Formats: sequence, structure tokens, C-alpha cells
Amino acid sequence: MSEAILNLEDKSYRLPVVEGTEKERAIDISALRDMTGYITLDTGYQNTGSCMSSITYIDGEKGILRYRGYPIEQLAERGSFTETCFLLMYGELPKDEERKAFSAKLTESSMIHEDMVRFFDGFPSTAHPMAILSTMVNALSVYYPYFYTDDFMSQTFDTMATRLISKIRTIAAYSYKHSIGKPFVYPKHDLRYCGNFLHMMFDSPVKPYEIHPEIEKALNVLLILHADHEQNCSTSTVRLVGSSMVNLYSSICAGICALWGPLHGGANQHVIEMLEDIKDEGVSIREYMERAKDKSNKFKLFGFGHRVYKNYDPRAKILKEHCTVLINKFGIREPLIDIALELEDAVLHDDYFVERKLYPNIDFYSGILYRAMGIPTDMYPVMFAIGRMPGWIAQWKEMHDTVPFKIGRPRQIYTGKTLRDYVDMDRR
Ligand code: SDX
Repeated sequence: MSEAILNLEDKSYRLPVVEGTEKERAIDISALRDMTGYITLDTGYQNTGSCMSSITYIDGEKGILRYRGYPIEQLAERGSFTETCFLLMYGELPKDEERKAFSAKLTESSMIHEDMVRFFDGFPSTAHPMAILSTMVNALSVYYPYFYTDDFMSQTFDTMATRLISKIRTIAAYSYKHSIGKPFVYPKHDLRYCGNFLHMMFDSPVKPYEIHPEIEKALNVLLILHADHEQNCSTSTVRLVGSSMVNLYSSICAGICALWGPLHGGANQHVIEMLEDIKDEGVSIREYMERAKDKSNKFKLFGFGHRVYKNYDPRAKILKEHCTVLINKFGIREPLIDIALELEDAVLHDDYFVERKLYPNIDFYSGILYRAMGIPTDMYPVMFAIGRMPGWIAQWKEMHDTVPFKIGRPRQIYTGKTLRDYVDMDRR
């Protein structure tokens, strides 16, 4: 394998180059500090790989996304979310028996402990569902404690993984019911993953909810598209927190909190609020675009831009198609889709955004689909978390399966005061 030569002061150092299966290359600097006394600095980790991973591959320039080698377009079109969960965690698509056993485990795990149901009595109805979700997921470690043993991966991991993938739906649906003061609807054993979630969200004793296959299919596609995405902010958080050997529930709780941010998974909620502003408050598209260009404020045009994609996010492309299919299928009058298409067109023809390769990302169209399903705006980041759950778990597992296993602990360059002596109060 080739090497990189680093010339520092009057010395030359040889650093190994590693190459992945898609010919991506990296300079391995694991021994840099011991060799040279130097570290590297890379704010926001824009050029830094944190790990080697075989789970997901993105080519940002070509707009390629694959889970364990399978193109996202094929999985979204022909697969199911539950088999995508299995694929991400175990590396292969499940055979029929495996699929049945996995689905049975998800069904068995769909309830939450009755004591946990009472947690909701303490949440105000206005509580953001991401705050509830992170609280409840961490609380799972109270009701399902486990102690890290050497045979953890073989004995306990599968149960914990199915618990999280299954129960996150129930917690999400209960947080919605709590917000509207309606009774919780328990999961049913004969419904599939997405159908059961829609049942818990929208069924009620006085008005039964009919699960439409097109809605169920659209939700499957949404969750598949969100399932994993390399070392994004929330996944890196799950890995870093998990590297301290804390339990899986608490690692996932940290990932949920990171995802909530408006620059990350919280963007889907802000996209809809932005489109509603344009529709209801008379804020013009041009006004929003100009605000996003103005460096004197932190505002960004939600749903546009990406650290890795410098081309159209392949997930946004699929969601855009599903938006129009679902809206036409159900004859939904959704003015936001027209505004979204107009905004996208304006952005894709504006020099500022074109020069910076800012295209619609996954969050731009997902909210419109959730809205068409009747899911409230503040639940959109929760929907993202439901989709991303298998990816977080798979990445956490891959980290724990990696030898040598290292706690994550970045270095820094200190820029504060140099050595000085303590000054008594009367001399300050
Ligand atoms: C997700 O990482 C992942 O994989 C994330 C994700 C996943 O599946 O996990 O794909 C999910 O989080 C999608 C992104 C959702 N967030 C948003 O839609 C919020 C708006 N987008 C921006 O905040 C931004 O584009 C980020 C955060 C997504 C990416 O930020 P980067 O990589 O740090 O890019 P940058 O800020 O360095 O931008 C480069 C330039 C800057 O301008 P200049 O300094 O060169 O003049 O582009 C500008 C930025 O100001 N820019 C934007 C912009 N995004 C970037 N300007 C206006 N509006 C935007 N949306």
C-alpha cells in the first residue's frame, strides 16, 4: 500500500495510506503524535475519518447512497424497513425464517412497561416529543438494566436492539396522544411495523383508523431512507458516547439529542415552519433566500445543503416523487408542495446556492409527506429518529465489535492564558 510523506522542520515522516473497497483513501495518522509531537486540527471533522465502516457508503459528488452495498433506490422500491434494520445490523438481507423471527421479536417488544406509561403524566402536553423520546429511551435502561459482560454481543444485543427499534414507535405515538389529550392506543400483534405505528398514532375508540396501503408504503420508504448515513452528527455522537462503555439505551439517547438540532434532523420541522411562513405570513421566497445569504445572521435555508452531498441528495429525489404520488392519490390540497417546488427551483437557479453546491437534502420533502399522513410538525424529528434507530444501533455494534476497542477522546490546541499565579482578592 502507498504511503504519505510528511516533511516537518528538517525531518521526513512516512505515514501509511489506507484504502476502502470503494477506493476512498485516507492517511492513517494514528502514530502521528508519537512520531512528530504534532496533532492535526480539523474543525467540524470535515476532512477526518473517525473509523473504518462496512455499513453505509455515500458518494457525495455522484449522489450515491448504499446500505451494505445495496442501492437505496432498490431498497426503497422493493424492500421493507424491518428487513433494512436486519441488513444494517447483521450485514445481510434476512432469509425468510430470519425475517419471521425478527418480526416476531419486534411484535413481542412493542409494549412499554406500564410504569413507564405513567411517566407521561408528568410531561406537559406542550412538551416537545424529542425531549420526551430522549427521556423515555434513557429510562429503558432503568427497566431493562444489563451489565456489560464479555458475551454481551451474543446474548443481550439482539434483544436490546429489537426492544429499541420496536418501542421507539410506541413512545413516539404515546407522546402524540399525550399532546392532544387522547387515550393511548396499544400496539396490535397482527399489524406490521409501519401499520402498527399508524394504528397507535391515529386509531381511537370512537373513530377507527383505516391503514391505507399507500400511506403504509410511503412510511416504509421514509424510514428506509432515514435508516443510516455514515458518520453524521448523531451517529458520531452514539459512537462517541458508546465508546465509554455506557449501555446502548443511553448511547441512543445521546444520538436523539444530537439529531434534534435544527442543523441536523430538526431541520425537517423547520422546513415546514419556513414554508408555512411563506404561505401564511407573506414572507417571500426571495426574502428567505436573501436572509440565508446574509452572513450577519446564523439563519440557513432549512432543507438545503449537506456536508457530504454536493449533488442532489438521492433520498430527496425519491421523497419528492412520493410527495406528488401521495398528494395526487389522495387528492390532498397541499399548497406547501407548490411553495416547496417554487423554492427549490429558485435555489437551483441562484448563483449563491449553485456556487456552493447547495441542493435539497432529505429534510426538504420529508415534512410534506409526514404532513400528508397527518403527523404533526413537531413529530418530524421523532420520525427521523424512528428511521435512524437501526443505523445508530448498527454503528454502535460495529464499534463494539472492532478490535482494538478505543474510547473516543479527541485532542485540542490550547489558546488560553499561559502559566500565572493566583491573586488574592485584595490585590485583584
Ligand atoms: C441532515 O451529515 C448527514 O449525513 C446528515 C443527514 C443524515 O442523514 O444524517 O443527511 C441529515 O442533517 C441533513 C441536513 C439538514 N440541515 C439543514 O437542512 C440545515 C440547513 N443546512 C445547513 O445548515 C448546512 O448545509 C449543513 C449543516 C447541512 C452542512 O453544513 P456544512 O457542511 O458545515 O457546510 P457549510 O456551513 O460550511 O456551508 C458552506 C457554505 C457556507 O457559506 P460560505 O461561508 O462559503 O460563504 O454554504 C453556506 C454556508 O454559509 N450554506 C448555506 C446553507 N448551507 C450551507 N447557506 C444558506 N443556507 C443553507 N442551507
